[in-house]
Amino acid sequence: MNYRGPFRVRADRNKPDPQILHPQDAIVKVTRSCICGSDLHLYHGLVPDTRVGMTFGHEFTGEIVELGSSVQNLKVGDRVLVPFNIACGSCPFCKQELFGNCHESNPEATAVGGIFGYSHTAGGYDGGQAEYVRVPYADVGPVKIPEGMDLDDAVLLTDVVPTGYQAAEMAGIKKGDTVVVFGAGPIGIMAAKCAWLFGAGRVIVIDHLEYRLEFVKRYAQCEAYNFKSMKDPVLFIKKATDYLGADVCIDAVGCEAEGSALQTITGRKLMLQAGSATALYWAIDSVKKGGIISIVGVYGPTANLVPIGNVVNKGLTIRANQASVKRLLPRLIKHVQDGILKPSEIITHRIPLEEIADAYHIFSAKRDNCIKPILIPSAA
Ligand SMILES: NC(=O)c1ccc[n+]([C@@H]2O[C@H](COP(=O)([O-])OP(=O)(O)OC[C@H]3O[C@@H](n4cnc5c(N)ncnc54)[C@H](O)[C@@H]3O)[C@@H](O)[C@H]2O)c1
Ligand SMILES: [Zn+2]
Ligand SMILES: [Zn+2]
Repeated sequence: MNYRGPFRVRADRNKPDPQILHPQDAIVKVTRSCICGSDLHLYHGLVPDTRVGMTFGHEFTGEIVELGSSVQNLKVGDRVLVPFNIACGSCPFCKQELFGNCHESNPEATAVGGIFGYSHTAGGYDGGQAEYVRVPYADVGPVKIPEGMDLDDAVLLTDVVPTGYQAAEMAGIKKGDTVVVFGAGPIGIMAAKCAWLFGAGRVIVIDHLEYRLEFVKRYAQCEAYNFKSMKDPVLFIKKATDYLGADVCIDAVGCEAEGSALQTITGRKLMLQAGSATALYWAIDSVKKGGIISIVGVYGPTANLVPIGNVVNKGLTIRANQASVKRLLPRLIKHVQDGILKPSEIITHRIPLEEIADAYHIFSAKRDNCIKPILIPSAA
């Protein structure tokens, strides 16, 4: 995959294969990779310092084909799933299992650590929408795929499942809580599913794409409503909760939210703020006083027009982060093996890697009832 500029990606047969650059590197031959909502922010040209020629892709599985001289935990031939965060394993943040906030893997920033296939604001590492990828800190990130696990489930354990799970975890859900999830993309779907694992009493999902609302109702056994059919989503949620507000709101939308002309014009058209904050706005106003907001939707680094005064006056707790995939994997692999979570059921499209341009178009334009596309290299 080769990024050529906003809304333009193509399959590139001439890009040189990645090489071992450091004794802790591994070269992985990709067997599955996905396109994520986070890739769409890159594809739409919204993320600063996204360079032409980069290969995207932070959700992938593969087979180890070459190892740097100091890698201890892997051998050639191992089948691995690779967390989207690039983490050194030994800085003060990695030691607290904040693998998304590694202080070493991203020299460009102090907030987020390195991420595969993201812009140079996340370290500028090439990603896994490719036949081969270089994986740094190979003793830290990759996890061997358990015997018998479906590759389609494994690839969703690199981001979607941990991110949805962490969204529910950060929300501090208590038994019987009413949880509202904004966004019925793969992340919101998984957050809704996982909310039950933390004891939610009621789960409500808000989106405007009917096919996704229908899917999430079935997959996560929750209520799902279309914000386009409401006059005011905040009032709708207040009414649905005896005018108290939801106990917990999860933002699984991020900077490309629809639903407010003001936010869309200032954030996405004029770029006066880093994207539109509509879902976050609704979350702040529809959670109860003293409630908790958990944000996994991605926002740019600069200011957003959110009602920060309401955050203060309502005494809200907001929790947000990139998912710390490695920390959650042992628990989530067990949930998949036990059949508690069946992530591969969200995959709607299987597309050859060579047809990457079509894959981006279908997922970005939400064509053909697409929820999660998976890319398969011809040699896999
Ligand atoms: N924090 C992390 O670690 C992490 C990891 C993966 C993805 N993400 C982010 O999570 C977000 C969702 O990812 P995805 O793959 O599900 O993306 P997606 O684009 O498939 O889904 C987003 C959904 O939000 C809906 N939406 C738009 N405006 C809305 C609004 N105002 N209210 C409710 N729903 C609205 C869209 O219709 C769409 O269905 C993205 O911002 C992505 O970058 C974060
Ligand atoms: Zn992702
Ligand atoms: Zn680190």
